[in-house]
Amino acid sequence: MSLRDPSRRLGHTIHELGTVESTQIVAARMAVGGAPEGTVVTAAHQTGGRGRRGRCWVDAAGESLLMSVILRPPGRPEEAPRLSLVAGIAVVDALRSLAGLRARIRWPNDVLVGERKICGILPEAATSGPDTLAHVILGIGLNVNQAFFADAWRTLATSVRMETGGVSGLGETRRSVLEALDDWYERFLTTGLPGLREAWLERAYSIGRKVRAGDGRVGVVVDLADDGALVIRTDSGETMRILTGEVTMEAADAARH
Ligand code: BTN
Repeated sequence: MSLRDPSRRLGHTIHELGTVESTQIVAARMAVGGAPEGTVVTAAHQTGGRGRRGRCWVDAAGESLLMSVILRPPGRPEEAPRLSLVAGIAVVDALRSLAGLRARIRWPNDVLVGERKICGILPEAATSGPDTLAHVILGIGLNVNQAFFADAWRTLATSVRMETGGVSGLGETRRSVLEALDDWYERFLTTGLPGLREAWLERAYSIGRKVRAGDGRVGVVVDLADDGALVIRTDSGETMRILTGEVTMEAADAARH
């Protein structure tokens, strides 16, 4: 089914699908075919859901919000990851207004409630030349109605239902996330990331925590740079930036200050 609301930049057209391999793939095909910015693809279930860094995103049919949004921001391809930060702010706000949840953003692309992940964000960029961004497919996977998670995810993941005890409508959840994303994306287009820095810091899980970058650097997170890099201070007092790659938490509570 396709829904239309021409008054919005994001979500003016929503393609609601049943089972797909990945909404990222469907949305990318539509983007290449000329679909306008703000076109949204959702699915009830994905057989090959994509996560960050080549991981899988597994869902149980009908329990999650699985959504990909076509964006066409100006800028260079390497700026695409900034959209994770925009989406993180929007998801935190949507969870607060929908369910009264206090969620926080773990840089760069996870949204947590407490210590558990409730949402993952995946921006996938396509280029039309070495320096030109053609589009970004912004994928959002939000755990909504799962009653439990099995195996390794048992202690790592949560859902809106597990946090509130209530079942939520996926349509209402989608609307809330899209409205918040529409607002924050508009602000991002006007001000760039610097205009969202305060909002990100207010919602950040990572600040004050000790992290290890993929290249082995360790430090306490002290800020978000204007280009979206995480700013860390090492034990020797040096300030460094982490712009890409994997970041893991180091004995977080011991490191808080
Ligand atoms: C992560 O945390 O690794 C990012 C997960 C992103 C999952 C969403 S679900 C909707 C969209 N389609 C996909 O295949 N992936 C994203």
